[in-house]
Amino acid sequence: MVNWTRRNCDVNWDEFDAGRYLDHNYRTLRGDDHRFIEAMRDFFADFELPPSAIGVDLGSGTNLYPALAMLPFVQRVTLLDRGSQNVRYLEEQVASYDPSWDPFWKVLLGNPRYAVVTDPRAALRKTADVVQGDIFSFRPHDRYDMGTMFFVAESISNSAAEFETAVARFLGALKPGAPFAAAFMENSKGYDVGDTHFPAVRIGQEDVRQVLSVAAEGLTVHYEPAGSSGDALRAGYDGMILAVGRAKPELSMSSEAWSCALDYSDPSSVRPISKRSPSLPK
Ligand SMILES: C[S@@+](CC[C@H](N)C(=O)[O-])C[C@H]1O[C@@H](n2cnc3c(N)ncnc32)[C@H](O)[C@@H]1O
Repeated sequence: MVNWTRRNCDVNWDEFDAGRYLDHNYRTLRGDDHRFIEAMRDFFADFELPPSAIGVDLGSGTNLYPALAMLPFVQRVTLLDRGSQNVRYLEEQVASYDPSWDPFWKVLLGNPRYAVVTDPRAALRKTADVVQGDIFSFRPHDRYDMGTMFFVAESISNSAAEFETAVARFLGALKPGAPFAAAFMENSKGYDVGDTHFPAVRIGQEDVRQVLSVAAEGLTVHYEPAGSSGDALRAGYDGMILAVGRAKPELSMSSEAWSCALDYSDPSSVRPISKRSPSLPK
């Protein structure tokens, strides 16, 4: 059987149905997301960033909780996504987010660092910039002091090379020492949003550690097996992985250099990464 590669550019991301994705994933707060928010919150709360700090969330989709988790620490936060429906949703939510996000903010308030944000709706409006852009080509003016990327690198194509590139782009966009949180679906076979099927790369915890370790340190990995919160989110994945850590202080590679270091033409890129010999140093 032919194993077709479905690259990121082969997908029409404007067909990503923001309303259906939101309804399925974030209308109510799931137990697995709850525990990931707590872990990210307590990790970020240990950092002192400069008052001028800027943050980024790559591939935001219709998920506001990574941006909310950065609010106490940043003067500005960029929410970047490729899909036009997601961008429209983000713009509406930045103007004044729906009450369905209040339970997510309540979890963040479980750490006292978040109490400085007395009006999170107003804070998001004042702080967030929504950008329609492409993780593979966007050129930030400056590198970011903190960042998040949730369920993106492995869920935007079925190419292992593009998974590695997306992670490298994310870490390359951060300043040395910047704290980050990144989440991944484990062994996803792809996912449906409404009637449209979107591709994914099958990756596991070891792949996540390996790819992040190239440019990150102090990694902690949290794991939620599918079904840990009662019902699994959907069929076709084994669990959810959250990694928190810091961009390596000695890292001085630009994102351009990162992408050049990767082999886009690798024909083995549709195979599960853990079965390939590592293409990047550990
Ligand atoms: C599985 S969704 C994850 C959304 C959200 N971060 C979450 O936590 O649920 C993947 C997201 O990546 C976005 N995306 C796909 N390709 C992209 C690209 N090249 N650059 C930026 N975003 C992209 C999609 O539009 C979609 O919103």
